Amino acid sequence: MLPCKYLCFVKAKEIDPVGKKGHDYTTFGIKKHNELDKFFFSMHNAGMSHAAQPILTSGATLFVRSYAKINLTLEVLGRRVDGYHELATVMQTVDLYDTICLTVTDENCVRVVSTQPELNGDDNLAVRAAQAVRQRLALTQGIVIELDKRIPMAAGLGGGSSNAAAVLLALQQWWQLPLSSSDLLTIAASLGSDVPFFLTGGLALCEGRGERVTPLAPHWPRAMRWLLLVKPTIGVSTAAVFRSLPASDYTDGTYSRAICAALQARRDLRLEDLYNGLERSVLERYPEVAQAREDILKAGAASVRLSGSGPTLFAPFSELASATRVQQHLHTPGYQSYLTRAIYPNVENVSFF
Ligand code: C5P
Repeated sequence: MLPCKYLCFVKAKEIDPVGKKGHDYTTFGIKKHNELDKFFFSMHNAGMSHAAQPILTSGATLFVRSYAKINLTLEVLGRRVDGYHELATVMQTVDLYDTICLTVTDENCVRVVSTQPELNGDDNLAVRAAQAVRQRLALTQGIVIELDKRIPMAAGLGGGSSNAAAVLLALQQWWQLPLSSSDLLTIAASLGSDVPFFLTGGLALCEGRGERVTPLAPHWPRAMRWLLLVKPTIGVSTAAVFRSLPASDYTDGTYSRAICAALQARRDLRLEDLYNGLERSVLERYPEVAQAREDILKAGAASVRLSGSGPTLFAPFSELASATRVQQHLHTPGYQSYLTRAIYPNVENVSFF
């Protein structure tokens, strides 16, 4: 059983009026609502909602949005003795999201039900996140995770990592668990290199394996007001991309430092400042990605970059009309495209250059 104090807290949350603890919740993008009915706010209509309240609870149920990311820079600095690579990467969350619904049960286990059946297993990062918390605190309360997937998988958009971080934050906030930020960070880093970033979200520089996260001021360049994401049909294994990366593609962090300096000084970014050290190798090994890049440029984009280890590419635009025009010109069957914007789940005031 969940220790009594946690259980009491869950009960207390159900009767708390919205707003009493509202500050804590909105800080993490979490809100609750007493009168919501779980069946009315099904996974599907919650997913379609772009309302201001990203997370809703009803009884022992909590909804949470889990956002995708893009990499403005991704630099591989070198190979580490643990087999991973030392990175410098500037990441930004975007408003493409999965909806996660957590329900407390009396079963001593974590179960997942996803719109993508291949994610219905114990190796799902969201399940592993919930299990890590339960094990760490010896909790026996069960959780059912309903996962409405919209972020494409194995796409370089961090969907699985984002789901894991969303579950960690949601459980921490919902159950008021005795986990410090550093505890959460340790659990996050044990789940995957991108998970620590999603604990913060927004705009951040990530170093080391990805676990050293430095949030950057929420100023966003005008030139990148709209972000068109295009995913070719294939999936890409991040491990395979890193394994085959030649040392000649390593850089020294210059691109990331330059972007950070420009963002901090609120200087406008040049699109050529965006950099991904995995891109050359991915374009060479995966012709579908190279073709998609050509197609996006031909459709009128001024600049295209790979996100993470791909295969998703993103093209920034200052004007919505240009972004929409390019999206409409991408007729190739199989491309999934998403017109998105930068999003700061934990910050209220965001300024554009
Ligand atoms: O940490 P995560 O499981 O997300 O990483 C997936 C794979 O990407 C790792 O198995 C590793 O091969 C590679 N990787 C790396 N260096 C990093 C992050 C990921 O080599 N900093």
